[in-house]
Amino acid sequence: MRITVIGTGYLGAVHAACMADLGHEVLGVDTDTQKIAALQDGRAPFFEPGLEDILVRAVGSGKLRFSTSLQEAAEFGDVHFICVGTPQLPGGTGADLSHIEAVVDGLAPHLRRDCLVIGKSTVPVGTAARLAARIARLAPVGEAAGLAWNPEFLREGFAVQDTLRPDRIVAGVTTEAADTALRAVYASVLDLGTPYITTDLATAELVKVAANAFLATKISFINAVANVCDAAGADVMTLADALGHDTRIGRRFLSAGLGFGGGCLSKDIRAFMARADELGVGDSLQFLREVDQINTGRRTLAVDMARELAGGSFAGRNVAVLGAAFKPDTDDVRDSPALEVARVIQSEGAVVRVHDPRATYNARRACPALDYAEEAVKACEAADMVLHLTEWREYHEIDPFELASVVRTPRLLDGRNVLPLDQWRAAGWTVRSLGGADR
Ligand code: UGA
Repeated sequence: MRITVIGTGYLGAVHAACMADLGHEVLGVDTDTQKIAALQDGRAPFFEPGLEDILVRAVGSGKLRFSTSLQEAAEFGDVHFICVGTPQLPGGTGADLSHIEAVVDGLAPHLRRDCLVIGKSTVPVGTAARLAARIARLAPVGEAAGLAWNPEFLREGFAVQDTLRPDRIVAGVTTEAADTALRAVYASVLDLGTPYITTDLATAELVKVAANAFLATKISFINAVANVCDAAGADVMTLADALGHDTRIGRRFLSAGLGFGGGCLSKDIRAFMARADELGVGDSLQFLREVDQINTGRRTLAVDMARELAGGSFAGRNVAVLGAAFKPDTDDVRDSPALEVARVIQSEGAVVRVHDPRATYNARRACPALDYAEEAVKACEAADMVLHLTEWREYHEIDPFELASVVRTPRLLDGRNVLPLDQWRAAGWTVRSLGGADR
């Protein structure tokens, strides 16, 4: 099939490359000329494991190319995936739909033949129906330009795998033709036995936000329990392991620590609440306010614990921060808990030196006032404390004996509860962790 993918960020770039990998002819479109030039050269504009390999392969085979022209997209595609961002509204809690509306307004007037526009972006329920009407009104071909909603569930760090072998495909459609087109797009993925759920537009939109709200709730649940564990001298990680054996609960997304960040969970639960308010059922999602507050409370707790480790004040202290990305295996620093903690500690008078294996470039742009080090050990030189805030594999492999000889004072706060703390203690470190009082 001839497919366009409009918006080549973390979602769109991966989707475009994967669609080409599945054998489709793909045109990726973005307004950012630099990004388009990089992609056309086979270079991923961000770090995502495995992406560059399939990108090089797809561009090399001629199956994938890029453009900045929506008119070219309209002329090229049988189906058009919309993958642009829907960030939190500046100064509000709802979703900013301006990018998605700009795509529809730019694309629809050029739609002169039967085609299907497929929304993948995360949107407030009701958006798809509104956009379908707008496309039919603006497109010369009228209602022959259909609209479907096919939410994306990929995780950064596993984006290629999640796209080529998703847990499920959700297809929000209003016509049989749309359903047939979606099944054709994903034919080889469906052949693997992937569950395919056909539903209406509103349900498809809601599946996505409900999934992210559930994941966020799970993380905040365990972090709330972690506070109780702390107060009672219990170990939340052992507790989570024990809970996880109950298959109704499951162990995944029950890791206590600094909490969630990134471009999705926080803004999606806020937009979900805002939309429920508009629909007159805001009370039903009151608990998500707690979920959000528990989450941001973990960042405050990390700063408080670090201050205590520093002897009550950060003034004149050197603080090493390991990790800037919102989670490992990505260079994404949007709403990164690690960076926020680093920033607050610096604002309280510490000299903060940050290391991240991949995210330094983005972190420097987001927080230019922090110091950055090329290597973890350099970040720790003469440090009064080390904060482990993003659980990259390489930090797990640090030798605490060696690092003890580099720092000024061997004090560690493990914000992610994954370091082998007994080994750190044996190497002379004073150790605290977010949720494991006696670990
Ligand atoms: C999330 C969802 O997991 C995806 O299914 C969804 O498609 C995506 O948002 C999206 O809406 O685009 P992602 O933002 O890549 O994916 O990150 P997650 O793997 O969900 O992690 C989110 C945050 O939760 C990270 O900061 C991570 O460190 C934190 N987390 C995760 C915990 O604090 N504890 C856990 O047990 C798990």
